[in-house]
Amino acid sequence: STIGVIFDLDGVIVDTAKYHFLAWKDLADELGFEFTEAHNELLKGVSRVRSLEILLDIGNVKLSEEKKQEYLISKNEVYLGYITKMGPDEILPGAEDLLNNLDALEVKYVLGSASKNAPLILKQVGLLDRFAAIVDGNSVSKAKPDPEVFLIGAEKLGLPPEKCIVFEDAIAGVEAAKAAHMVSIGIGDQETLSHANFNFNNLTEIPEDFFAQFISE
Ligand code: BG6
Ligand code: MG
Repeated sequence: STIGVIFDLDGVIVDTAKYHFLAWKDLADELGFEFTEAHNELLKGVSRVRSLEILLDIGNVKLSEEKKQEYLISKNEVYLGYITKMGPDEILPGAEDLLNNLDALEVKYVLGSASKNAPLILKQVGLLDRFAAIVDGNSVSKAKPDPEVFLIGAEKLGLPPEKCIVFEDAIAGVEAAKAAHMVSIGIGDQETLSHANFNFNNLTEIPEDFFAQFISE
């Protein structure tokens, strides 16, 4: 096909954003400050290490490198507790229909996630084999909003960035897609993601003929 699609994972394909939130909130509670859903928006899409830095800034907490390493491990342990219980019922509404639609159009798609847990999550929900490639937190050195993850995704698709369409639920992710010169589709709150090229509340809202506008004969 003349186009390809890159999917973010957390908050687009699966509803894991709530688990990240709960795990970070645990840590904020332990450190003694308030951590709200609004704060959590700033952590969406960014790497685990960067998330901790943002969290500590919010709480105005300074920690030694050693303590930070410790908390990165314990946060992930809490998070793993949630995701190892996940199943196919936690695939977000519309996601599978969208993948089926792309299959029918013979449009290739890859994953472009900041998460090091991406393969495990995809396995848990039974979607691991559907993506042409998995680009995740294990394969990138620069976190979103840096475009690296999506540029590697374009390489895997064998397409120039301008021919790639990115589905994102995070501010940092839409920024990364823009920096990569890709078409960005914001999934979720339209005001939060007003910098995206297109906005939908969720994947069920995407019209069946949506991709036709991008596909040239
Ligand atoms: C992103 C999430 O997909 O992955 C972030 O939106 C998260 O909230 C990041 O911090 C890293 O995830 P993980 O699973 O490697 O800790
Ligand atoms: Mg996300």
